[in-house]
Amino acid sequence: MRMVDIIEKKRDGKELTKDEIQFVIKGYTEETIPDYQMSSLAMAIFFQDMTENERAELTMAMVNSGDTIDLSKIQGIKVDKHSTGGVGDTTTLVLGPLVASVGVPIAKMSGRGLGHTGGTIDKLEAVPGFHVEIENEEFIRLVNENKIAVIGQSGNLTPADKKLYALRDVTATVNSIPLIASSIMSKKIAAGADSIVLDVKTGAGAFMKNLDDAKELAQAMVNIGNNVNRKTMAVISDMSQPLGYAIGNALEVKEAIDTLRGQGPKDLEELCLTLGSYMVYLAEKASSLEEARQLLVDVIKNGQAVEKLKTFLKAQGGDDSVVDHPENLPQAAYTFELDAKEDGYVAEIVADAIGTAAMWLGAGRATKESSIDLAVGLLLNKKIGDSVKKGESLVTIYANQSDVEEVKQKLYESIKLSKKAVKAPPLVHSAIT
Ligand code: URA
Ligand code: CA
Repeated sequence: MRMVDIIEKKRDGKELTKDEIQFVIKGYTEETIPDYQMSSLAMAIFFQDMTENERAELTMAMVNSGDTIDLSKIQGIKVDKHSTGGVGDTTTLVLGPLVASVGVPIAKMSGRGLGHTGGTIDKLEAVPGFHVEIENEEFIRLVNENKIAVIGQSGNLTPADKKLYALRDVTATVNSIPLIASSIMSKKIAAGADSIVLDVKTGAGAFMKNLDDAKELAQAMVNIGNNVNRKTMAVISDMSQPLGYAIGNALEVKEAIDTLRGQGPKDLEELCLTLGSYMVYLAEKASSLEEARQLLVDVIKNGQAVEKLKTFLKAQGGDDSVVDHPENLPQAAYTFELDAKEDGYVAEIVADAIGTAAMWLGAGRATKESSIDLAVGLLLNKKIGDSVKKGESLVTIYANQSDVEEVKQKLYESIKLSKKAVKAPPLVHSAIT
């Protein structure tokens, strides 16, 4: 087989075979196929697309390019959730304990964040003592015992995707539905998921800015999952404004605790109940989505969800007193209010700009090497559609610096007021179940 023939075939819009796709991914991983040929193929895929079969084969070839995590010693169906990323997205912190408390095993491998705020591990490390450096056996034991544990990334998972994603980044081929879908799905499958729930974000703060693209990506990933025997469901949710109120690590932990008690922001609670009900259903702990949702509502009401959070934190060295005493989380030295300059209605809260403001305070990493400040961040006091009086606070800023003028300036630019009443955007645009 010759790479040049495969490039030519795709350039001319023909379907590649399983053997050809495996040849490409193996050769690229082992560096017998050079970057210039791979980038040419990526560009051909960008213009010619891939069939359902090609997408499934590409996904599995990338899964098999490196290590895969064996979760077979964990009892039950392992359901993983993936979000395409948003600002102040606290769902993972809520969903883990929430679905674990109805018996769904959550064996999560998580990473650190780059950009607006930390990743799930950074957020959890806002709990004093909490750590993710646990051995594989201990991880499996904890999931079997408590139904939830989180471990840091280890092993050489999907090296083909790592190389290809980096190449796409510099060859203008990131924005291709078959390449994005196979990239995301390969990582979830390599991490051991039996079933997958996807939260595809759309709006200003999202990777997919418009709804049609988000729907197409969601459908592409669901089809791949179902074609490779991983039951997959997806929600397309709104990221035209940040989710919930909190953006920042300790602030989001506090928000997750509130939500597990049924006292959190309504949008965050609703998204967690929706995604959570899919997870419970796919894990076969309920026979319908309605029944699954009711189980989750019940564990929030009867306190089992928040108890599960305590058990989980304590099992990994964390100080579980933070659940009842959030003042034991890292606290910022200063708070400032961003006062509205006029009366009106909130019309826009540009999510990615808000994320940037949080990063400037130190809540996120500008580069991989930056360190983050777990205490700082933003708490939105208003969301799209809310009415505002001049002088009322739009945002509370939590800082460890006494000068936040630049941050305030950025926030004023990101939050637009209108004289006319504004309707809040829908939270869930559509779903594929
Ligand atoms: N996120 C990924 O993991 N892969 C892509 O290709 C795009 C976004
Ligand atoms: Ca939030």
